[in-house]
Amino acid sequence: MTASLHGRDLLSSADLARAEYERVFDTASELKREFRETRRHAAQPLAGRNVALIFEKQSLRTRVTFEAGLNQLGGHALHLGEGIGFGVRESVADIAHNLERWIDGIVIRTFDHSVVTELALETGIPVFNALTDDEHPFQALADLLAMREHFGGLAGRVLTFIGDGNNVYHSLALAGAILGMEIRLAHPAGFGPHADIIAAAERLAASSGGKIVVGRNPLELAPGSDALYTDVWVSMGQEAQSHARVAAFAGYCVDSSLLELAGPDAVAMHCLPAHRGQEITAEVLDGPRSIALEQAENRLHVQKAFLVESLGRE
Ligand code: CP
Ligand code: NVA
Repeated sequence: MTASLHGRDLLSSADLARAEYERVFDTASELKREFRETRRHAAQPLAGRNVALIFEKQSLRTRVTFEAGLNQLGGHALHLGEGIGFGVRESVADIAHNLERWIDGIVIRTFDHSVVTELALETGIPVFNALTDDEHPFQALADLLAMREHFGGLAGRVLTFIGDGNNVYHSLALAGAILGMEIRLAHPAGFGPHADIIAAAERLAASSGGKIVVGRNPLELAPGSDALYTDVWVSMGQEAQSHARVAAFAGYCVDSSLLELAGPDAVAMHCLPAHRGQEITAEVLDGPRSIALEQAENRLHVQKAFLVESLGRE
């Protein structure tokens, strides 16, 4: 019997057990099927639910999919812009204590991951991590649902991340480890993942039959991959390092020859937004083996699924 996700936060990809991932994927697939058929949902399990959206970084996909997803299920999104002076005009704790008196949940995109954990600690309403410097758990849910759809399952599948050991990689490593996948990373020196996240992912992989592999050379790590995944070399908040990063990541571009090396059935993945000609070529991103837009489409449905499980009526 799967533990209920009622009232649950999603702060890190490590927050969900394997059966809980499967439950969110199943709910998301059902919502996606209905939405593709009718562009709406007959049931409105979020009717009367209000969720605040706090974005301290730019966003297209995450903003639109949380807001549209809430609306599609009868709920309501409140955008709290710069006007609230998050952590400046008022402390994170005071904001948390006020919001829980009025609304049902908080979606937050911010810089320091500790802000999200503090918010969750201070408030009794669920908090949903819409990206921090350390993690992007709803992205990993959407990505792994896209792989599950494409390959028919996840256990034993190999996802190789090419580039920065960043927030998107961290969440994929944790989620993939829980789901029994092999998650590889090829990164240049000095741009590796956080050691504590690798240690946690290795522990999770040990009990799921998964595997975590971290190395340098894309040419050595690509062969035998089911998916080559990449992300921008300069994440939001790292703009001052742009020059050094672009120089360091030369040789870490997902191009046609690397995808060929991965294998004839390998797909290319990207969380978007992309910089064609840097981390991925236009030929690959816009080509027939790219599932980037399936990943983006799934954002809407995995988030709706999680919101229904967490905030819907029991
Ligand atoms: N992939 C993703 O999170 O996109 P946005 O930054 O546009 O939300
Ligand atoms: N790593 C990127 C992901 C954007 C969706 C960033 O943090 O900017």
